[in-house]
Amino acid sequence: MIELKQNIQLKPFNTFGIEATAAYYAVAESVEGVKEILSNSTIKGLPLLVMGGGSNMLLTQDFNGLVLNIKIKGFTVVEENDEHVIVRVGAGEAWHQFVLYAIEHGYGGVENLSLIPGSVGAAPMQNIGAYGVEIKETFQSLEALHIETLQTRTFGKEECRFGYRESIFKRDVKGQYIITHVSFKLSKKPVLNTSYGAIETELNAMGIDKADAGIKEVSDAVVHIRQSKLPDPAQIGNAGSFFKNPVVSAEKVAELKAQYPDMPAYPSGESHKLAAGWLIEQCGWKGYREGDTGVHKNQALVLVNYGNAKGNEVYALSEKVLQSVKEKFGVELEREVNII
Ligand code: EPU
Repeated sequence: MIELKQNIQLKPFNTFGIEATAAYYAVAESVEGVKEILSNSTIKGLPLLVMGGGSNMLLTQDFNGLVLNIKIKGFTVVEENDEHVIVRVGAGEAWHQFVLYAIEHGYGGVENLSLIPGSVGAAPMQNIGAYGVEIKETFQSLEALHIETLQTRTFGKEECRFGYRESIFKRDVKGQYIITHVSFKLSKKPVLNTSYGAIETELNAMGIDKADAGIKEVSDAVVHIRQSKLPDPAQIGNAGSFFKNPVVSAEKVAELKAQYPDMPAYPSGESHKLAAGWLIEQCGWKGYREGDTGVHKNQALVLVNYGNAKGNEVYALSEKVLQSVKEKFGVELEREVNII
């Protein structure tokens, strides 16, 4: 029997460290457990909030429904040949634990995604990405439970419709499924991706020749870079990048470049991706603090909670940031974090 708790404080369960109460709270460690809790008559019809690592959400109010924490664990090799291995991972494993598992076994493909907070089940929802790699590149398939029918459905890569911090789970089927397992195709003969400049710079600083680097060294470099730029949620509450990097037309980039020649911009298909952190920094927000909320001093894309910020205070700051970027650059930022 799964315990259904009442009036639970969510502060320890979200990396932003925001206080909010859940009317009901339960932990599921298996697919059967998820089914059991969803069939419980007490919570029928109430809103549902599925939590993995709680690392991509901003709670702006108490939650008058069920918060379901998915803790389905386990790594299973389901297929293997000389080149590849397919590993099926429980949605409740911490993402970085999976990266460490892959590195320990010599399986390549996720080393650039080291130290990203959050759970394996949440990772495909927003196609997590960092340092030139996105999860869609190693993604094989996922299993998800339909909340209404309690039937399991397997989603292949195409069906997930991955994009930049995007998938079908944030769009067409939003709120309809609970991801229970994710399978990844990893390489036994890893090809490193050090195209993101900072990785090479960091390898050099670590005294490692690029030719001698393996997945462990790339992972270590990424960990160092992240630790130097991004606040550790255990010390300062945050949810990583608060906004997405905006994608704009070639005309818009040309117009901005004429005025700001140093502005970073990267081709992205037909369009161009701008660095939201740079735009926000130019508006003077980097290191800004207002009460217990603020903009991180090393990475302007990250909003922080110094201890007792309320969710709506962080949200209000994000609105000011958004407005100022719009006024100065004519670029509309989009929030990456889920606002609850
Ligand atoms: N920049 C500034 N000021 C800042 C922050 C950045 O000028 O305060 C400039 C940097 O100098 C650089 C450019 O912006 O020229 C890009 O910065 P960075 O390499 O730090 O990456 P980012 O675009 O700010 C994205 C992801 C991160 C990911 C990094 C590394 C998004 C929304 N964010 O940040 O992902 O770790 O690239 O690949 O795409 C996350 O999603 O939570 C996250 C942390």
